[in-house]
Amino acid sequence: MSTVETPRTELTWPGEGTSRIPYAAYTSEELYRRELERFFYRSHWCYVGLEAEIPEPGNFKRTVIGERSVIVVRDKDGAINVVENVCAHRGVAFCRARHGTVKDFVCPYHQWSYDLKGNLQGVPFRRGVKQDGQVHGGMPKDFDPKDNGLNKLKVATRNGVIFASFDHGIESLEDFLGPDVLHYFDRVFDGRKLTILGYSRQRIPGNWKLMQENIKDPYHPGLLHTWFITFGLWRADQKSQMVMDAHGRHACMISRRNQGGASEVTKGVSSFKEDMTLNDPRFLDVQPEPWWGGPTAVMMTLFPSVIIQQQVNSVSTRHIQPVGKDAFDFVWTHFGFEEDDAEMTQRRLRQANLFGPAGFVSADDGEVIEFSQQGFRQRPEHATVVEMGGREVENTDHMVTETLIRGMYRYWRKVMEAGPVHTSTLAAPESGVAQSKERGRRCT
Ligand code: FES
Ligand code: FE2
Repeated sequence: MSTVETPRTELTWPGEGTSRIPYAAYTSEELYRRELERFFYRSHWCYVGLEAEIPEPGNFKRTVIGERSVIVVRDKDGAINVVENVCAHRGVAFCRARHGTVKDFVCPYHQWSYDLKGNLQGVPFRRGVKQDGQVHGGMPKDFDPKDNGLNKLKVATRNGVIFASFDHGIESLEDFLGPDVLHYFDRVFDGRKLTILGYSRQRIPGNWKLMQENIKDPYHPGLLHTWFITFGLWRADQKSQMVMDAHGRHACMISRRNQGGASEVTKGVSSFKEDMTLNDPRFLDVQPEPWWGGPTAVMMTLFPSVIIQQQVNSVSTRHIQPVGKDAFDFVWTHFGFEEDDAEMTQRRLRQANLFGPAGFVSADDGEVIEFSQQGFRQRPEHATVVEMGGREVENTDHMVTETLIRGMYRYWRKVMEAGPVHTSTLAAPESGVAQSKERGRRCT
């Protein structure tokens, strides 16, 4: 008897370490399937939502982890559960609404019902039907509802943010994020109650990793984005820091805005528009907030599933939802804080116009990600050049670097076992990323 094995994609890594990334990392179906298994379905906490989205018992939200549909629901005890949206009977993805309030979940096909913890509570005709004094049909006597509930995920919440994992043996969320990234996570989510301001959704025709890379790439914003360089929200002459966790998988890009206008860094940059002014200056009505503590922007990439954005007064989560190797859905949840007054809420909403599918800034990113994927498809044997700032993986005090991308691919390469790995490339993660020289030192 012979078995047919899926051919394994082996990547050729030109150059040292992960300073050159083979295009096939973005175009191989087999590698994509392996990514789903190893990053989204095993050993990683994935973002599923905010507690403020399901404040009351019975509130639920349907979302995804990787490509698997899950439901995030608050039960009668107030606890948050995450269950897979697959009926235990014959596999129906029974939950169709994106949000709602229910007493229980009922599958439309044969009306098996589940409580809000995912336990099977009802099976129509389980004990058969009585006809002519006899019982006909029904489930076998030894059928035990306890063994036939929904697939329950492990859940972790921290200050209003919900993560889940199919992997019940996973480390704690705090260990997963690591202390340096956790510091910036807690800067935004410090226990204040969140309010939901709205959503944007878009499908970007590019590999999901390109979105992680985009927010690990401090080099591009002052070049690609007219808005950032012209109005001084993010550009190379600003004080900034690039910080990774010990594995190089998560990262924070931290910066402090300046006044914009012409300077050394705008020379020859075609996206800089010195004469550009706003018809409505309220888009940049920035109000510093005490919790910022210095930086005006901290963009966090929590691998693999989410970006936490703070760009001046606009705060959001951006959920990465892969849809095949060539596309991902990108779901933005714009939020605020319960203590915000009406004016601050308006301000956050106005500044949110910079982001989302049609955002003054983010529309640019969606386009270049699409264009990147086009190039990868066209020349699959080629590789990207990720050498800005050197070939090493290290935290930095400036933004003219691609170190965070190299860090992510060093981790990716180790977990994926895709292509030969040289020992020099993969020092133990614990020692491989130079930590901030001084953990307490923050960008001010
Ligand atoms: Fe869900 Fe039958 S498939 S009840
Ligand atoms: Fe960008």
